[in-house]
Amino acid sequence: MIVKQRLIFILYSLCASVFRVAATKSKGKGSQGQFPITQNVTVVEGGAANMTCRVDYNDNTSLQWSNPAQQTLFFGDKKALRDHRIELVRASWQELTIRISDVSLSDEGTYTCSLFTMPVKTTKAFLTVLGVPGRPEITGFTKPAKEDDVITLTCTTSGSKPAANIRWFRNDKEVQGSKEVNATGKSFTVRSSLQFQVDKRDDGVAYTCSVEHATLSSPYMTTEVLEVHYPPYLEITHSLIIPQEGQYFKLECVSIGNPIPEAVLWSKDGGELPDIERMIVEGRELTITTLNKTDNGTYRCEASNHLGTSSAEYILFVYAKDFPGPTTDPNSLGPHGPDHALIGGVVAVVVFITLCLIIVLGRYLARHKGTYLTHEAKGAEDAPDADTAIINAEGNHVHAEEKKEYFI
Ligand SMILES: *[C@@H]1O[C@H](CO)[C@@H](O)[C@H](O)[C@H]1NC(C)=O
Ligand SMILES: *[C@@H]1O[C@H](CO)[C@@H](O)[C@H](O)[C@H]1NC(C)=O
Ligand SMILES: *[C@@H]1O[C@H](CO)[C@@H](O)[C@H](O)[C@H]1NC(C)=O
Ligand SMILES: *[C@@H]1O[C@H](CO)[C@@H](O)[C@H](O)[C@H]1NC(C)=O
Ligand SMILES: *[C@@H]1O[C@H](CO)[C@@H](O)[C@H](O)[C@H]1NC(C)=O
Ligand SMILES: *[C@@H]1O[C@H](CO)[C@@H](O)[C@H](O)[C@H]1NC(C)=O
Repeated sequence: MIVKQRLIFILYSLCASVFRVAATKSKGKGSQGQFPITQNVTVVEGGAANMTCRVDYNDNTSLQWSNPAQQTLFFGDKKALRDHRIELVRASWQELTIRISDVSLSDEGTYTCSLFTMPVKTTKAFLTVLGVPGRPEITGFTKPAKEDDVITLTCTTSGSKPAANIRWFRNDKEVQGSKEVNATGKSFTVRSSLQFQVDKRDDGVAYTCSVEHATLSSPYMTTEVLEVHYPPYLEITHSLIIPQEGQYFKLECVSIGNPIPEAVLWSKDGGELPDIERMIVEGRELTITTLNKTDNGTYRCEASNHLGTSSAEYILFVYAKDFPGPTTDPNSLGPHGPDHALIGGVVAVVVFITLCLIIVLGRYLARHKGTYLTHEAKGAEDAPDADTAIINAEGNHVHAEEKKEYFI
């Protein structure tokens, strides 16, 4: 029992002494380790930075802030350097806080807080100043480009620190450009270029240069819309798939081109259009009010702009009035020509049906031939004389032919 009590007492005193040692140690560190504490600061140029220096245990020793050039800014609450951008925020034995406003890139560097104990204790704080990139500019595009020209778009932004990132977008799709970074003073000039050969699909396409940087909440963007000139491309659309005599027929010369060709010129079979009332030319349209077989031929439309001339042709084949073609829609004048897939399908079906008919007919005739021969023989046999036999045979023959015709 006594032994146990002694043991507890020994343990207790052991713990207490450990605690005492720890307490004195930390107190000793506090009073001896009078030490200024600072923090690194990051600021966007033009903004303001607070530089704070703290001392937890201070026996009324003065604090001082000095700049990267070792010039004293504040000694306690006394201003030492004449710079209106530097002001006192708080001065006490525990803290010296100063504010640098309208910060420029040249303010960046290591600031020192000194505590004038013996010897002097110092702590460094790094002031990082971020440079805001300038609005990007796109150069290198001389409006308008001609088809097949190789153009270079260059986007430049300067003043960023650290160097800004440039991205390119063709409409909304990102494309890769080259990148070049040069230091100009303390900031960077970033340049990115895109080089490509333009074609007519680039006409009206928007190229956007986007500048991203830590100092920007949303990227800066600049857009250049390409204008590409190209010669005309023509296509003739027509209102009927199977033009038939007597119908109303319209051809349209659809043209693209930049600049858009102003006029289209119609011709037929290499010469002028026949001067007949049934044919009306109105802008890009050629209308034939009543189709006639004499309208057969090759129709051609031609258009030009300053980059060239092109043409398109349409071969008109006027079918007879009662041609059993597929149903036609006189109102349809779509942007495309005849539906080739549809025609192909129709041809395939027609070929298939014809083949079936030939097979069926072939089989039927093979079977029918026998009957027909028997009929002929029968007619001759039944006849009382040769004449009647011939007439009967002929009648039978005529009958068979009628049948044949029916089956064709
Ligand atoms: C600097 O300190 C002052 C006073 O405490 C405060 O009003 C201001 O917002 C601080 N500025 C910055 C940039 O932290
Ligand atoms: C520190 O200065 C204050 C007055 O500013 C004074 O009251 C105090 O006694 C001083 N303390 C020491 C440790 O010198
Ligand atoms: C402060 O910045 C300096 C220089 O960039 C760096 O070496 C140091 O580690 C930083 N200190 C802290 C506490 O972040
Ligand atoms: C970078 O410097 C080189 C060499 O001086 C120069 O040719 C180039 O144009 C500069 N680029 C930028 C983005 O300023
Ligand atoms: C076609 O034109 C010829 C001569 O121009 C005319 O005699 C004929 O009646 C026309 N046919 C139709 C179906 O209009
Ligand atoms: C026009 O084409 C039709 C095809 O049915 C043909 O019969 C006719 O002879 C052609 N007319 C001319 C003038 O070529």
